[in-house]
Amino acid sequence: MKLVSYVSTVPDLRAKVCEWRQNGETVALLPTMGALHAGHLSLAKQGKQKCNRLVTSIFVNPTQFAPQEDFSTYPRTFEDDLQKLVGVDCDLVWAPTADAMYPDGFATMIKPEGAALGLETDFRPHFFSGVATVCCKLFTQCGPDIALFGEKDYQQLCVVRQMVRDLDLPLEIMGCETVREADGLAMSSRNAYLSESERQIATSMHRILTDVSKAFRTDNSNPDKLCENASSSLLDAGFVSVDYFAIRDAETLAPIEAGSRRPSRILAAAWLGETRLIDNISA
Ligand code: PAF
Repeated sequence: MKLVSYVSTVPDLRAKVCEWRQNGETVALLPTMGALHAGHLSLAKQGKQKCNRLVTSIFVNPTQFAPQEDFSTYPRTFEDDLQKLVGVDCDLVWAPTADAMYPDGFATMIKPEGAALGLETDFRPHFFSGVATVCCKLFTQCGPDIALFGEKDYQQLCVVRQMVRDLDLPLEIMGCETVREADGLAMSSRNAYLSESERQIATSMHRILTDVSKAFRTDNSNPDKLCENASSSLLDAGFVSVDYFAIRDAETLAPIEAGSRRPSRILAAAWLGETRLIDNISA
């Protein structure tokens, strides 16, 4: 069985990247928490098209989980992941231990605002501070030319872009289209938690987002009403509760004015049993 090789310390990672740099090669970074699926592999392929070398980081980041969340049960499939990455010609996996990432005495967290305010933050207040901190560390550890993020986590993409701009981090953030199952469900490592019946219901999230997008393009005079109706449709379809269904400015994620002509994004988060699903679509 062929596996991509991995390193677990910052000096080992930097030595490898330095070797490539000395040969004039460019480097893409794909940050992940593992449990890789076709969505990750599509990002990996796009990274490899853009740069000579691809580093995939695999790190289940404790600082982006609240105590009651699924950190301990988050799927960990390291060997499988190393095998899958062979197929996309990944050059190296960066797999730091929790101690390498957050050594004793670690005391500095990034606190993003702007695009981080509202939506996910209303329900997971700790989340973007953990994501921004670990991404900033991954960027400075690896020093890539580009880093790839899926649009599936659209607010995360906006927050990371803003952080890179605000902190003058010397890399480009490449946002890539969400990869979906044949029935429209956005690929996510957390889909593995769904029972068979929940999996059937899950598909309605993309359908309802698509319906709202069509309706909004026809008449954008009352976005709040569209979102209210869409939340009811999710509950009717079998979702247990809806955290949010919102139409926002596609870049800043600020609430949009009725009749606005700015590019917009429709974002939703809802629960199916114990599983929280998020998805989004262009308005
Ligand atoms: O999207 C994810 O998998 C994570 O939030 C990320 C970007 C790898 C940071 O831990």
